[in-house]
Order: sequence, then C-alpha cells, then structure tokens
Amino acid sequence: MNANSASCSDRSMETGNQEKLPERHSILIVDDEAVIREGMRRILASEGYHVETSASGRAAIEKIQEQDFAVVITDLKMPGMDGIEVLKTIKILQPEVPVIIITGYSTVDTAVDAMKSGAFDYIAKPFSSELILDKLHKAVAHTVSLADGFSVKKVLSAGHGFEDFVGESIEMQKVYRRIVQVAPTDSTVLITGESGTGKELVARAVHKNSPRHGQPFVAVDCTSLPETLLESELFGHVKGSFTGAIHSKTGLFKVADGGTLFLDEISNISLATQAKLLRVLQERMLTPIGDTRPVPIDIRLVVATNVNLRTMVDKGLFRDDLFFRINVIPINLPPLRERRGDLPLLIHHFLGKFSEEVGKEVRGLAPDALAVLEGYAFPGNVRELENILERAVVLCEGEIIQRADLELRSAEEDRYLDPDVVPLNLEELKETKKQIRERAVEPIEKAFVLSALKRNNWNISQAAEETGMLRPNFHALLKKLGISVRDEQGNQ
Ligand SMILES: Nc1ncnc2c1ncn2[C@@H]1O[C@H](COP(=O)(O)OP(=O)(O)OP(=O)(O)O)[C@@H](O)[C@H]1O
Ligand SMILES: [Mg+2]
Repeated sequence: MNANSASCSDRSMETGNQEKLPERHSILIVDDEAVIREGMRRILASEGYHVETSASGRAAIEKIQEQDFAVVITDLKMPGMDGIEVLKTIKILQPEVPVIIITGYSTVDTAVDAMKSGAFDYIAKPFSSELILDKLHKAVAHTVSLADGFSVKKVLSAGHGFEDFVGESIEMQKVYRRIVQVAPTDSTVLITGESGTGKELVARAVHKNSPRHGQPFVAVDCTSLPETLLESELFGHVKGSFTGAIHSKTGLFKVADGGTLFLDEISNISLATQAKLLRVLQERMLTPIGDTRPVPIDIRLVVATNVNLRTMVDKGLFRDDLFFRINVIPINLPPLRERRGDLPLLIHHFLGKFSEEVGKEVRGLAPDALAVLEGYAFPGNVRELENILERAVVLCEGEIIQRADLELRSAEEDRYLDPDVVPLNLEELKETKKQIRERAVEPIEKAFVLSALKRNNWNISQAAEETGMLRPNFHALLKKLGISVRDEQGNQ
C-alpha cells in the first residue's frame, strides 16, 4: 500500500472523476437506520470504497468475524448490541481496525467514553459528507501505516505463558494474538477446530492469561456424560431431588466460581440442557436441581467444538440464541496439514519430550521417515503426530527413527489393505498387481496428455505427433482416461 489511497481526498462526487484508489478498501457501516446507512454508502462508494452495511451490532460482528475491514463506522445508539459493545468486540477481534463512532448531539459525552474504549474518532450527527470523508481518510491512512510495520512478534512479547504451544506459522500467530487479546476480558470464547488441533490447550491459555488465573479452571467434557448426569454435574443437585441423589452435589458452575468453566464438545448438549444453560448464562444465577434458591455465579465461559455449530443451528439441533451468546469471540485452530511449516518444530519438540520420558537418545528421523510425515494428512492433527512419535521412539532401535517405526502406511498402500481387496489366489494377486500399477500410472498419463494438448491448442493430431504417438493410439489413451476433446473435425 502507498500513501495515494490514504491521502486521496478528491471528491469524485463533485469532480465526476472515478480513478484514484489503487486498492479498494472495505468499509463497514453499522446503523439501525436504513436512511443513514444508505446515505453513507453512497458517499463512500462514490469515493471508490467498497462498502458493506449492517443493520445491527450483532450482524456487524458476524461480518467482522468473516471478513477484514479497513475501517468500521458504527452508530452509537442501537437496539440490542450498541456501538460501544461493537467497538469493544472489534478491539478483541481485529484490534488494529479503527472504529469511528457516530453519535447524536445528546450523546457526545458517551462518545468521549467511546474514545477512551479505543474508538479512533467520533462524528456528531448531523454531519456533512466532507467531514465523514475526512475522518475516514485519516482512519484508512492509520490502517495502512499499521499494516506496513505490523509485527505479531511485537504483540507477543515474552511472558504470556505460551510455552505449551509449539508453532510459529502465521496461522498459529493469529491464534496467539487472539488469545492475548481476549484473555484479559470476560468475553465468552468459542474455540473451533478439528480433533487434536489443541482446543483444550487454547482454553487453558485463555485462563492462564486472564485475571482469573489464580482461580479454578474447570473442564467438562460434554460427551462423556449422559444428559441427566451432565445437568446435575453442571448445575448441582440437592439431596433427594431425584432417585439416586443420596447426597447433595455442588455443580461444576459453582466449583468454577471466580474462575473459568470450559465446556468441551458443547455440540453434544441436548436442546433441553441448552435451554437451561442459556438461562444460567443470561441470568448469571444458578438453581441446583431440586432447589428453589438461585445462587449468583461468576464464571468466564470458554467452549469448544469440532463440529460446525452454525450448521447445527440450521438443522435445528442447536439453539440459535445460545449460539449467538457463545459465538462472541471465535478462535479457530487450523488443521496441521494447513500449517505444515510447523512440522519440524513439532517433531523436534515431541522427540525431545519422548526421548526423555522413555529414557532413549533419539536424535532424529531418517529422510524417508520424514518424507512420510511431510506427506501425511494427519486427520488426528497434533495429537496424532504426538502419538505416532511416542510409538516411534519406543519402537526405534538406534538413534534415528526409521520409516517402519512410524507404522504409517501411505494412503496408496492403505487403499489395497482393505480386507475385501486382499487377493485369495495367484490369479487374483496378478489382477490386483495390475490394478495397482494402472492406478499408479494414471495420474502421470493424464498429466502427459493434458500438457501435450495444451501446448498444441487442444489439437489432437498435433499433440499426438509431438509426443511421437500414432493418432489412434493417442485417441484411445484419451478415451481410457475419460478425457474428451473436440477433434479437428469438431467431433467429440
Ligand atoms: N500447538 C501445539 N503445540 C504443542 N502441542 C500441541 C499443540 N496443539 C496440540 N498439542 C498437543 O496435542 C494434544 C491434543 O491437544 P488438545 O487436547 O488441546 O486438542 P483438542 O483440539 O482439544 O482435541 P480433541 O478435539 O480431540 O479434544 C495435546 O497433547 C496437546 O498438548
Ligand atoms: Mg479436546
């Protein structure tokens, strides 16, 4: 980015001149009044900005979770989530995005408070298009200068207690940053990610870095208990409240009082329990089963799921109001296969850990063993890598882990170990071998014919000639591979 867009102050509305902005910055306008939204959209769009609008704070936050904006302009007074709440949430989700607050004259004092909460600027209504554009250009310039010199490492100065985490990839840096931003607040955190990506590690890091760190961290695995037990575990019960309630039991909400409650795999909670959970979260009061006296509770809630809750909401399996309540600050953990750059660090970390635990001097992996790990998809993510390496350290006979110690087969090998495919006699063995060979060469053949066709403008005769094949043979190969190209006569 350069200064052009930042200092762009031409009024294309006045000049009719539409060139300018080298990069279209996205601006989000949040206002419950359609007239204001649309009026501002026109002003900003005519300056070349890409404009999105939201009619409520909640809708705005959903947009911000999915998309990057250069600047957010929000009305202060809105029903539901107001401008200050929007501002505070943005300061956690995308702290570097400047937020401009729009206020009525009567609420200028609140605007000053908004500035203290981190707003970039404020505008009092009614305002001229010049004023809003001037403030917007300044805010965009601010974003641009930040983007130029921004370094995650600076944000993550030492002492944040991230020693349990291994990984320096951009994806993980985003996760660390989000943890640092959200930990000091009391906001609910929704951790998503495939199994074994480190969701529980994140939950603990949020707690460790929060002011509640001296208080309990209580983790509840919502899959491990049947529904009725889960409710009494969470909310507690009084003696005799149901058959089998021989003693009173303190609920985990109460055990976590003052600290953090981590609900793992929250998607497994039934709709009935979801309703009860929502009430507790809304009222911040808890009534143990069989009791009539509600008691206040003070917990910070962190939840995790490895399924898409939004899809569950769409299917009616998860309450939308509960989803909105917990989906305030999402932290998404990338699967290991999408951050392979972290593999060497993770391998080093786990080899060191298990060598020490097992009492062996294992120094590294043979090149082919490393290649297998580098090509592996890790459906079970970091946990799977951890298990593979633990087993390998145990099995390994020298100082170097061999490919066989990993006990990992390539996907190709796996495909033929299906019991239905194991040949029963010599004839079948020959047939299986033939199939394996054919399947192995097929991708190479495809690449070969497609590149030849491409080089020859999809002309079959020329492609055949160039590759040294007879035209009918080339044609037959295309047919076998299921590739259809019009020939020179226009036939398929
Ligand atoms: N970035 C990381 N650095 C080091 N270890 C990690 C990392 N991510 C995960 N792990 C390790 O991998 C294992 C799985 O992590 P964790 O239990 O937090 O994952 P999860 O997402 O909660 O998994 P599941 O969905 O199966 O419950 C743990 O032993 C954890 O210490
Ligand atoms: Mg877990």
